[in-house]
Amino acid sequence: VFFVKVFFFFALWHEATFVVNVTQSSYEAEENQNITLEWTFTSRTQGSYRELFIYCEAITDHGVFVIYHMHKGVEIPASQDDQFSGRVQIDKDVLREGRIRLHVSRLRTEDSGLYLCDVMTDYGFNSGRCRLKVTGEKKYY
Ligand SMILES: *[C@@H]1O[C@H](CO)[C@@H](O)[C@H](O)[C@H]1NC(C)=O
Ligand SMILES: *[C@@H]1O[C@H](CO)[C@@H](O)[C@H](O)[C@H]1NC(C)=O
Repeated sequence: VFFVKVFFFFALWHEATFVVNVTQSSYEAEENQNITLEWTFTSRTQGSYRELFIYCEAITDHGVFVIYHMHKGVEIPASQDDQFSGRVQIDKDVLREGRIRLHVSRLRTEDSGLYLCDVMTDYGFNSGRCRLKVTGEKKYY
């Protein structure tokens, strides 16, 4: 019983100390522009990220779309919804530092919505969300 309690203590402790933050809670952009959405998560200075799972979705008025999926450190482009295909890139260099930088290009007004990323590693799970508002291109006459 003691060991079970110790196990649960560590499981809960891990969950509580693994955080996913957003660097900005909301973004605004015009259509056809590009934007970089950024999340940060608790990273370890040593060890590899073979057990890194990332699942990012956009919840919009037009539906819920998968924008990015990484399974055990490997990108799964097939999971991505057509609405975002070819428009999302992750910055792999900064993943190790615990930063998820998603570059979304050629924004559309219907991309507006809530963006959330679930992150799981072998030492915890959490998620973070931000808002994106894409306005119509300004016309100058
Ligand atoms: C998350 O945000 C909290 C509060 O601002 C900060 O103390 C913590 O260092 C941040 N952690 C990460 C991984 O960004
Ligand atoms: C937006 O990103 C696309 C593809 O990554 C690039 O070709 C284009 O030049 C970028 N546009 C701006 C305004 O930065």
